[in-house]
Amino acid sequence: MFDESETYLAELNKLNQYKFESEEKVLKDVQNGRFYKSLVLTDRAVLAQRKIALKETLGRGCYSKVKEAYDLNHLRPIAVKIIDCSKAPKDFQEKFLPRELDVWPKVTHPNVITMYDYIINANKIYMILEFANGGDLLSYIQRINGPVPDKDCKLWMKQICNAVGYLHERNIIHRDLKLENLLIDSNRNIKLCDFGFSKDLNLLGNDDLSRTYCGSKAYASPEILLGQPYDPKKADIWAIGVIFFIFLTGNMPFKEDKCNQVILNQHKTLKLVWSKNAKVSTTAKNLIKTIFTFDWVKRPSIQDLVDSEWLSLSQETTCTYEYNLRSRFRNTNRRIDDNKTCY
Ligand SMILES: Nc1ncnc2c1ncn2[C@@H]1O[C@H](COP(=O)(O)OP(=O)(O)O)[C@@H](O)[C@H]1O
Ligand SMILES: [Mg+2]
Repeated sequence: MFDESETYLAELNKLNQYKFESEEKVLKDVQNGRFYKSLVLTDRAVLAQRKIALKETLGRGCYSKVKEAYDLNHLRPIAVKIIDCSKAPKDFQEKFLPRELDVWPKVTHPNVITMYDYIINANKIYMILEFANGGDLLSYIQRINGPVPDKDCKLWMKQICNAVGYLHERNIIHRDLKLENLLIDSNRNIKLCDFGFSKDLNLLGNDDLSRTYCGSKAYASPEILLGQPYDPKKADIWAIGVIFFIFLTGNMPFKEDKCNQVILNQHKTLKLVWSKNAKVSTTAKNLIKTIFTFDWVKRPSIQDLVDSEWLSLSQETTCTYEYNLRSRFRNTNRRIDDNKTCY
């Protein structure tokens, strides 16, 4: 695709100046673990060579930063997730990152961020992603400081179930479902991102149980906290329950604690506090309680959620009302925990 407008040509001109920009870096040789100095292209140069103009930072993770960008090839805004492998531990480089690069490009669903492509340069990976300009749901919930309005709540829950249903149907599990990994697009629809802990069960043997305990503790199911081999699909369902509870109340369902046993006691007793300002229907409360079934064998599947009375009442699957995005909210004091851990 080519555009001859003045802004396009000016932007292209700017990119051409960055194409060979480089900086001295200390790199680690993966083979022998030794460090050496080398001149490497800057992020701006790597992407300029692909006609991509980098803009402001959208978010940061443990080993990644995500930047807004503009793709002059396709004339569209994009997001670029940049991972510096030299800063990441071995298991991340050898296990989780290859899975993210393998699984994500295979996924095509309206409620999942598309990975268009990825670039490998020196010790860095650049994931070229569909852009969601409404920011993530953690920032959103902090901004509204309460439950998600009715008009969005059920639709968003449905969209999350549709995305996860699509994945589970294909034997793909996400394992890091949480507010930070759910984005709002320009039409106010939900898009799931971050396949850093995902797994394609089709590539494994007969045993579908997981033994890697990843994700955030606040969203972790009892079997994960107990350190037992677990059905990863049912662990995704538990995390969906945590997300739904936050949608309905604006609060976390379980208080975080360093000690797993304290959290497990809350999972067992299930004394959920429904905030007074949130008018939660009995059907919705019952759905949440069913999701938080301690025994994963009895916990509902994603199809059970899609078919549940509360969710199946509404037919809509996309946002139908006018919506103007206000400026995003960033760097707030996060009342709701956003730590990513692997334990
Ligand atoms: N495609 C995107 N569009 C807009 N913002 C994004 C996009 N991808 C990620 N982000 C922002 O960057 C943050 C970190 O991205 P993520 O892929 O979750 O990285 P990590 O694996 O390090 O957690 C997200 O929580 C979100 O705020
Ligand atoms: Mg993330």
